[in-house]
Amino acid sequence: MRVPAALLPAGLVSCLAACGGSNGPTTPPTPTPSAGPAWNEVTPLRDAAAARHKLVGAAVFSSGLAAEAAYAGAAARHFDYLSAEYEMKWDPIEKTRGVQDFSGGDAIVAFARANGMQMKGHALVWHQAVPSWVGTLSAPELRIAFEDHIREVAGHYRGRVRAWDVVNEAIDDTSFGLRDTIFLRALGADYIAEAFRLARQADPDAELIYNDYSAEGMGGKSDAVYALVKGLLQRGVPIGGVGLQMHISASGFPPLADMAANMRRLGALGLKVNISEMDVRIANLPGNLAAREETQRSVYHDVVAVCMAEPACESVTFWGFTDAHTWIDSTFGPDDPLLFDAQYGVKPAFDGVQDAYLGR
Ligand code: XIL
Repeated sequence: MRVPAALLPAGLVSCLAACGGSNGPTTPPTPTPSAGPAWNEVTPLRDAAAARHKLVGAAVFSSGLAAEAAYAGAAARHFDYLSAEYEMKWDPIEKTRGVQDFSGGDAIVAFARANGMQMKGHALVWHQAVPSWVGTLSAPELRIAFEDHIREVAGHYRGRVRAWDVVNEAIDDTSFGLRDTIFLRALGADYIAEAFRLARQADPDAELIYNDYSAEGMGGKSDAVYALVKGLLQRGVPIGGVGLQMHISASGFPPLADMAANMRRLGALGLKVNISEMDVRIANLPGNLAAREETQRSVYHDVVAVCMAEPACESVTFWGFTDAHTWIDSTFGPDDPLLFDAQYGVKPAFDGVQDAYLGR
């Protein structure tokens, strides 16, 4: 359904080229009828995850936690690992140079702590959600701003996050070389290694992650991610994990065996793996809503089951949890990609995920 306007700064649209989305105007979505039990009538997903020794995560926004009882309740009941969907990115933290606002991220960290959940920081270096003033800097100035940003943000959250997405989406979709970004232009290819080193200095204990999309299975882009992280490890760069975003459509996604093989080859490098931003689009499937949601259930089940079966895979994070708040609606068009419907009713997708965590 809809993402709050506050979460949608202009132009922050990821993976459009690869995923075929559009940023055009969207028609208001049709509300989904609540088919299943309410969010508070089912066994907590996090209980199944704890028994499985894998984390279950969701991306959230602080105003929802503060203002919507069902949003906060469902988050706390079902998840044990939170990401900030937007509020720990560079732009919201430092809209004006030198004036930092950590209030959104801090509120999410406080909520996580109060509810016995862990936090993943997201994301220190990304070519989107960059404050506009950064674009006006000379290369030497940008280097200073880049270093300050990583030191200050990772330092601010030191000891309060279990992991950081340090570099996000640095591989180009077509050339599979490094994406042409202001960071590459101003700092050169070494900016990735530098980011990890700076993050490690600022937070000695966090797991430091490279995160990307369309690198879930086997293919040119995942080969490029593999080569990148292998090269970083060979140079002694402190990287500990790879995040596979998993923004997929139920009508087409990488073969499950390829996802498993990809996780295994990353694991063989000594890295942890996580599914970092999962959602499953169903708008373009044939059939009525019940049929589409049933297909969605099996996709969620099967993909999460890959993580459960792979020792290197330590968590699955969903990019939101209710169809009332999803970036998909504004990026790809109206859809119902998450585990709970817009009224916080349990969807078949939830059951699919729970079954996978329970090994069923
Ligand atoms: C998206 C959020 O969902 C939106 O609310 C925000 O406006 C833009 O960013 N890949 C990522 C995430 O790594 O940070 C993106 O999140 C989705 C794609």
